[in-house]
Amino acid sequence: VPPAEVLLSKRVQEMVIADDEPPAPYICRNDQDDDVEEESIENSPVPVVNIGCFLAENWSDKESAEELKKLKLALSTWGCFQGFIIWTNIVHVQAIGHGIPTSFLDEVRQIGREFFEQPMEEKKKYAKTVTEFQGYGADPVPEEGQSLDWSDRIFLDLVPEDQRNYKFWPQNPTSFKNTLEEYTEKLKKFTETISKSMARSLNLDENCFLKQFGERAQLQARFNYYSSCKRPDLVLGLKPHADGTGYTIVLQDEVGLQMLNQGKWYTVPNNPDSLIVLMGDQMEIMSNGIFRSVVHRVVSDSKRVRISVTTFYTPEAGKEIGPEEGLTGVEAPRLYKKIKDYADIHWGYYQRGMRALHTAQLI
Ligand code: SIN
Ligand code: FE2
Repeated sequence: VPPAEVLLSKRVQEMVIADDEPPAPYICRNDQDDDVEEESIENSPVPVVNIGCFLAENWSDKESAEELKKLKLALSTWGCFQGFIIWTNIVHVQAIGHGIPTSFLDEVRQIGREFFEQPMEEKKKYAKTVTEFQGYGADPVPEEGQSLDWSDRIFLDLVPEDQRNYKFWPQNPTSFKNTLEEYTEKLKKFTETISKSMARSLNLDENCFLKQFGERAQLQARFNYYSSCKRPDLVLGLKPHADGTGYTIVLQDEVGLQMLNQGKWYTVPNNPDSLIVLMGDQMEIMSNGIFRSVVHRVVSDSKRVRISVTTFYTPEAGKEIGPEEGLTGVEAPRLYKKIKDYADIHWGYYQRGMRALHTAQLI
């Protein structure tokens, strides 16, 4: 078996075109998942929160109080929710400049699709090296014994803007750069809204999480291309894991993403209007364990291709984060210590197929 570095130089899309069987390092599903049930998609109650009302200027009505309750419940039981930005009140939302119309979400999906559907020579212009994060290819090689993901991706730093490395930003499709820049601006507003709503749902000062994320909070995008696989029973598009982020925003065009909840995998339905927000470990820490960081994975399909655009929202580099003071006290002891650069610690564990949250736990 060639080493993972060699295997990674051949992308999954190329193997699919060549009709290859998945090579051994990609095979990961036999025993480990067999004891976990999969729920059918019809039974996937991944909570839906209408965040439209958090975007409106006037908060105080009963409706938004109801949605805040739902948000808290979703994040404390599931660690994720599907947020519809677009709903009947769209005109108002757009009027105050916060809405992301479905037609724009389609454009973002489309630049991802068009990029991956180009010939390999074009994509390899943006190829990353094995050790780099940014660029086209696969995640850096995991530790020995860890399987590879049946997917291709391009990873780009978005915010702070001075961290962007435009040499990795595709020139084709020609609209890629503008569309991604516009999406970034919309996500900056979106994360502000979500961070404030989460704080309000816990009766905290609405800016408290934003302060913890810091002025140089980071946004990074990963465009994913999950090829079909003739043996979907043997591979995964993405291994089970929880994110090391504050939280993560997923835009998808097909089913495939699954959340683990009470010992079962639930497929997130595909709603073209919605963004999926997943709690990462750092929101679990900041909320003193009230919001739960959610274990998720991506399954492959024998026919369907799935495209997603994942955006990671992470506190400023080098900034210490910790449980909000308002959430700790006699009744709710502090569960986590203050920690900085948690995403780096998390990455080391991820590479070994392990969770990292215990490193922040107070014993
Ligand atoms: C996806 O939904 O395609 C990716 C989710 C993740 O980044 O974990
Ligand atoms: Fe993830």
